[in-house]
Amino acid sequence: MTPFSAIVLAAGEGTRMKGEKAKVLHEILGRSLIEWSVRAVLESGAERVVVVVGHGRDGVESVLKSRFDGRVVTALQEHQRGTGDAVRCGLPGLATDAQTVLILYGDCPLVPAETLRDLVQHHEKSNMPLTMLTSRLEDPTGYGRILRDGNGRVVAVCEQRDCTEEGRAIHEINPGMYAAQAEFLRDAIATLESHNAQKELYLTDVVGKASAHGGVADVFAEMKDLVGINDRNELARAAATMRDRVNGAHAVNGVSIVDPATTWIDAQVVIEPEAVIEPHVTLRGTCVIAKQARIDVGCVLENVSVGEEALVRPYTVAKDSTIASAAKVGPFAHLREGTDVGPEARIGNFVETKNTRLGKGSKANHLSYLGDGEIGDNVNVGAGTIFCNYDGFQKHTTVLEDGVFIGSDSQLIAPVRIGKNAYVATGSTINRDVPPEALAVARSRQDNKEGYAPRLRARLKKK
Ligand code: UD1
Ligand code: CA
Repeated sequence: MTPFSAIVLAAGEGTRMKGEKAKVLHEILGRSLIEWSVRAVLESGAERVVVVVGHGRDGVESVLKSRFDGRVVTALQEHQRGTGDAVRCGLPGLATDAQTVLILYGDCPLVPAETLRDLVQHHEKSNMPLTMLTSRLEDPTGYGRILRDGNGRVVAVCEQRDCTEEGRAIHEINPGMYAAQAEFLRDAIATLESHNAQKELYLTDVVGKASAHGGVADVFAEMKDLVGINDRNELARAAATMRDRVNGAHAVNGVSIVDPATTWIDAQVVIEPEAVIEPHVTLRGTCVIAKQARIDVGCVLENVSVGEEALVRPYTVAKDSTIASAAKVGPFAHLREGTDVGPEARIGNFVETKNTRLGKGSKANHLSYLGDGEIGDNVNVGAGTIFCNYDGFQKHTTVLEDGVFIGSDSQLIAPVRIGKNAYVATGSTINRDVPPEALAVARSRQDNKEGYAPRLRARLKKK
C-alpha cells in the first residue's frame, strides 16, 4: 500500500446531543469519540492525519495533543457550513504530494482499522477517483441513501432530508468513509454547491461528481461497526458494543469476566490472565490488574494497580492507588489518591485512606480514617482509629513505625510519630511522639463509684 493521508471531520456542534460539550468529546470507555476515530485511522496506516476542528476546538485540540502528541495536525473550520466545507478546510493540511486521501467523520468510534485499510487498498486497485463504503440498515433513518443506476453502479448519495419518498425507501446507506484521489478531491470540493435542504456544502455530493468523472468504486461493510453517533441513545448503544468487544478480548486472553453485560472496562486497562472480574465492576483509566487477582462485585477502580493474588472485596471504591500482591481490601473500603497498600496488607470495611502507605502485612480492618500516613510493616491499626491530619490550614503526616499496635478508637494528632513496636492504648488521643517499645496511654482514668446507680436513678426520677 502506498502512503496515504487522512482527513477526519470533527468541527460540528452535535446539536442532537443537546449539551454544551462538542459531540466528538463525548466518551466511550475512557476515550473520546474523536480519539477512537483517529486511533483507527493511525492504525490503518495513515501517514498524515488532519483533524478538522471548529466547535469546542480547544477541548478537541487538547485531547488530540494529550493522546497523539504531534502525530496529527488540525485545521480550522470557522463556520460549520457542512461536511464538504469541512473537507475544504482540511485539504491544505495534506502533504502536497498526497495521492490517496481517506476521509471519515469523527463521530464513528467503532470503525476497525482493518475496515479502513481494506477501503484504501480497494481504492488503489480500483483506479477510480473515489471509493466508498456502503452498508445496509433495516431502519436507514438519518443516513444518506445510496443511489445506483440500472447497471448497479453508484451514482450519488442522497441525504435523508433531500430524498424523495422513493429515495427514503432505499435501505442501502452511506456510512461516511471514503478514499479519494487527491487531485480529483481538490477539484470536486472546489465546485460544491449548497442547493439542498440544509443550505450546506455536502461532502456526499462528491460521490455524484466522481460518478460523472470516472466512476465510484464501493465496498460493502457491516453497519454495526460503522455507526455514527448523533444523539445520546446512539452513544449508549455504541458504548455497549465497545464494552462487549473489550470484555470479549480480555476473556480470550484468559481473564474471567463473570458477567460481561454489567462489567465496564476502559480501553486502556490492562488485565493479566487468570484474574477474575465479578459482576457490576467498573475499571476506569489506567488500571492494571495482575494475574490471579480478584475484583469482587460492585467495585469501582480508577487508575489503580492491583497485584497478583490480591483480593478486592465487594463495593470497594479506589482511585490513583496501588494494591500490592496478596493484599485484601474491602468490603466497602474507600482508597483515595496516593494510597499504597503493601503486600499481604489488609484494609477492611469502612476504612478511608488518602496519601497513605501501608507496609507489608499491616492491617486496618475496621472503621478508620488514615490520611497522610506512613505505616511500616506488621502494624495493627485498631477499629475506629483516626489520623487527625488537618489543622484547618495544612495537612500533616502520621508515622507508625514497624510493629506498632494502635488500640481501637484512638486519635493520632499529626504531625506525630509512633516508634517501632510501641503500643498506643485504646481510646487514646496522641499528640506527642511515642518512643520505640513504649506504651502510650492518653485517656482519663476510670473511676467506679460503688452502689451509685440507685441514687442516681432516684434523683433523675424526681425531676
Ligand atoms: C453524514 C453524511 C451522511 C452519512 C452519515 C454517516 C453528509 C452531508 N452526510 O450525515 O450521508 O450517512 O454522515 O454517519 O456528509 N462536520 C464538520 N463540519 C460541518 C459539519 C459536520 O466538521 O460543517 C463533522 C461533524 O463534526 C461530524 C461529521 O462531520 O463528526 C458528520 O456530521 P453530521 O452532522 O453528524 O453528519 P450526518 O448528518 O450524520
Ligand atoms: Ca453523524
